[in-house]
Amino acid sequence: LIVASPTWNIGELQSDWEGFFDELDNIDFKGKKVAYFGTGDQIGYADNFQDAIGMLEEKISSLGGTTVGHWSTDGYDFTESKAVKNGKFVGLALDEDNQAELTEERIKKWVAQLKTDFGI
Ligand SMILES: Cc1cc2nc3c(=O)[nH]c(=O)nc-3n(C[C@H](O)[C@H](O)[C@H](O)COP(=O)(O)O)c2cc1C
Repeated sequence: LIVASPTWNIGELQSDWEGFFDELDNIDFKGKKVAYFGTGDQIGYADNFQDAIGMLEEKISSLGGTTVGHWSTDGYDFTESKAVKNGKFVGLALDEDNQAELTEERIKKWVAQLKTDFGI
């Protein structure tokens, strides 16, 4: 599975996810590999950069999902993020507001990594 969300309203899930978030509790993610990507703004929202994918990953991994596709925080400048665990982002962090020129290269690199992580 690949799960994605922008972060909105200062550390919130994008609104389509909010209605569905509690329903995730009804899904058994055991045996599933799950990758995450999000969009955010590291300058404008430096204390909440990419929080949405952190919230999704926390929930889904508590339901048995195995997270793949971790991503280095190198090259980003932010203060706090719920998406950082053990020094890495839980998934691909895209910032179209400040680093749009890096998006294509980041996606290419992440997708290549995912192929390995998913074993395909
Ligand atoms: C009101 C508002 C709140 C936002 N809050 C956050 C936030 O807490 N964390 C974050 O990383 N980005 C935040 N953002 C930035 C958006 O995630 C970013 O602009 C969006 O993902 C870019 O995608 P788009 O071009 O499709 O809108 C916020 C943007 C707006 C307008």
